[in-house]
Amino acid sequence: MSTTTLHTLSTMKQQGQKFAVLTAYDACFAQLVSEAGIEVILVGDSLGMVLQGQDSTLPVTVAEMAYHTASVARGNKGSLIMSDLPFMSYGTPEQAMQSAAQLMQAGANMVKLEGGAWLAETVTLLAERGVPVCAHLGLTPQMVNQLGGYRVQGRDKASAQQMIKDACLLEEAGASVLLLECVPALLAKEITLAVDIPVIGIGAGPDTDAQVLVMHDMLGITPGRPPRFVKNFMAESGDIASAFSAYATAVKDGSFPAAEHCFE
Ligand code: KIV
Repeated sequence: MSTTTLHTLSTMKQQGQKFAVLTAYDACFAQLVSEAGIEVILVGDSLGMVLQGQDSTLPVTVAEMAYHTASVARGNKGSLIMSDLPFMSYGTPEQAMQSAAQLMQAGANMVKLEGGAWLAETVTLLAERGVPVCAHLGLTPQMVNQLGGYRVQGRDKASAQQMIKDACLLEEAGASVLLLECVPALLAKEITLAVDIPVIGIGAGPDTDAQVLVMHDMLGITPGRPPRFVKNFMAESGDIASAFSAYATAVKDGSFPAAEHCFE
């Protein structure tokens, strides 16, 4: 059972206390993440890339997300569990409700979905039926084919304005949390100030209410050159539990992300 709730996260935002989010996909790592004091475990569809070796998140299914969510729930010691609705599992509001039900019944405390204004109706329907929603804006990896690659979003004025509008609209629709991926630090700051709900950032600068990383990236075990926004916490820590604690501390004291991890 989670001891961290949506209320915890929103109180932390109001009090200016930052919280940490990290991905996990199985019971053993979920236990280590929660014991490190990381408030939220994200069962991300990034598992398609880091566990399955796919070159995008698109092949991941609801059944796979439910399997990993259930595994995480068994190991979790008090973090809030957020699970990704995978590609094409929320194309219509009805489909979203069925997919979300599977993740919630597997042990998720909330779901995350990628997209802007077009999701407002879905967010409202889910929230009204007891499914808290995190809306994911900026670089939305499920849209990689539309975006033409994994690129920083919101660099020009029009797309930045659109992102601010989408954030406010999704909050109004009932989203409980917002996640911003790969957006310029100043834009992320503006959005974080514009909404009352907690904002989690990845590659979004130091001024969001929380930070998230993919576990394999921060342990330095993802093959290839890591993205700019990643810090390898294993390099300084020596063991996995210490790396998780160092990450939690660095997020909470504001030392991560540093300037070299941000986009301007
Ligand atoms: O799937 C995932 O791990 C994510 C993070 C990159 C935010 O959505």
